[in-house]
Amino acid sequence: MSTNFHKLSISKITREAAKTVAITFDVPAELEGDFKFKSGQYLTLRADINGEDVRRSYSICSSPNSGDLTVAVKAIENGKFSNYAYDNLKEGDVMDVMAPMGGFVLDEKVNNHLFMAAGSGITPILSMIKDIAESGNGTATLIYGNKTAADTIFKEEIDALNTANTNVTVHYVYSREDSGNAVLNGRIDRAKCADLKNYILKDAPIDGLYLCGPEEMINNAKDYFSLSTLEANQIHFELFTTPTAATEESKGGADEGINVNSNVTVIIDDEEYEFLLNTEDKDVLQAAQDMGADVPFSCKGGVCCTCRAKILEGTAKMDLNFALEESEVEEGFILTCQAHPTSETLVVSFDEY
Ligand code: FES
Repeated sequence: MSTNFHKLSISKITREAAKTVAITFDVPAELEGDFKFKSGQYLTLRADINGEDVRRSYSICSSPNSGDLTVAVKAIENGKFSNYAYDNLKEGDVMDVMAPMGGFVLDEKVNNHLFMAAGSGITPILSMIKDIAESGNGTATLIYGNKTAADTIFKEEIDALNTANTNVTVHYVYSREDSGNAVLNGRIDRAKCADLKNYILKDAPIDGLYLCGPEEMINNAKDYFSLSTLEANQIHFELFTTPTAATEESKGGADEGINVNSNVTVIIDDEEYEFLLNTEDKDVLQAAQDMGADVPFSCKGGVCCTCRAKILEGTAKMDLNFALEESEVEEGFILTCQAHPTSETLVVSFDEY
């Protein structure tokens, strides 16, 4: 997988509800291999905004077999990139786009999928549901929370999927509008999850849960379903806002209190960058950038996973991790934007997947 940016031109711009714009890219034949994706993955976009290199990751909302490569960008308050994209981008513009990434993808072992999304968290989930509808494999049940029907991004498209496919079922939950069913009114908190499970999902078989939206909704749903019906490895999630609190413990309690001057080697595209880095100093990503390494990143907040790399030797701890699954951490993957060395030698590679 390539971590370089490629120039792609915008073939279509569509305005959606809630100040969201869907951007479709034209992928030239020579880049088709690079831009093959799985439903649920995201693209990192880069733009020069008033002289600043700004990067953000956005989930792909088209399905892998549709032949389209489309992301959805919701303009958020003070969002530098999202407002730039919403206000300025037009068909024919050329953007810097990184190849698709991300591990929030369908688990092949799962047959009956429950998807829960809130707001713009629908984006990767829409791609997954289209994928399931097109393949006809398994079932997809969607619980989609929004303030009102008018605020519901992709509502028309989702309604059409619901109508046209017997293996897709959709339930909207509104927090500021009466949906006509008390169970489908309100916010998706733990009590709402219990009501949904007991009434709306009573007869729905579920062997995999996919969550995407704000932290609070994800935590509520994770807590409820892990205590009631599902094992931890059946629950997958992707956070769609910057976390409000540093809730993730640094990895490996044994690392606490360690303070070493580490000889760090960062490998990217077969090139090696070596430097000394103290545990308490800057993160591995920043240190590598300071050495001139063209390392991939986007959010720098432990959310997007673009800076993921693998430890080949030594140990590191992370300040935050909202993106890597436990199994990935066990395999030695780290978010370099959150990582600090805890061993005298640390070798990290961006070339391992
Ligand atoms: S850059 Fe997003 S998690 Fe590190």
